[in-house]
Amino acid sequence: PRPILLTRHGESRDNVRGRIGGDSVLSDAGELYSKKLSNFIEKRLKSERAASIWTSTLQRTIITASPIAGFPKIQWRALDEINAGVCDGMNYKEIKKNMPEEYESREKDKLRYRYPRGESYLDVIQRLEPVIIELERQRAPVVVISHQAVLRALYAYFADRPLKEIPHIEVPLHTIIEIQMGVTGVQEKRYKLMD
Ligand code: F6P
Repeated sequence: PRPILLTRHGESRDNVRGRIGGDSVLSDAGELYSKKLSNFIEKRLKSERAASIWTSTLQRTIITASPIAGFPKIQWRALDEINAGVCDGMNYKEIKKNMPEEYESREKDKLRYRYPRGESYLDVIQRLEPVIIELERQRAPVVVISHQAVLRALYAYFADRPLKEIPHIEVPLHTIIEIQMGVTGVQEKRYKLMD
């Protein structure tokens, strides 16, 4: 069985400020994670010559992948974070204060709520379809370096979690989720590389 390794990018400067969306670079902790991740991957996939690294097109995932040597890297737009539309660059407190109706509607139905001029979780799930098809076709391990909302959706697909849970699944920073697909089902391991 070949593993799929899922991880969020290292902590970004926007993560530190609590801002959603954007295209910021990594914080110092995020930079450290990218090095630890690279050591982990190079060891874990040492004899896996056909493995590949998939990122989004956003800087924070590309930078996180940058120290990893020896594997091809592929950028997917479909792996970009949920588009927060008019709320891009805001933090949750600002959304609550300046756009209380939007905040409320999202609280009520996070799965279906679509940011004005942006996306919903259902939109993200739909755009991930080609990525999932390609992941299913791969015979070699794949490392997916992406974002919170996108990884919730991908994880839910492989771990067979119900749709309604997706927006609430825990996908912490600086943690690798390894999924192994075998004949008897799916096995999962989590590696927390930093506190
Ligand atoms: O805060 C990091 C982040 O990746 C944002 O860019 C994104 O909007 C958010 O997480 C998605 O999580 P939630 O759906 O819980 O707001």
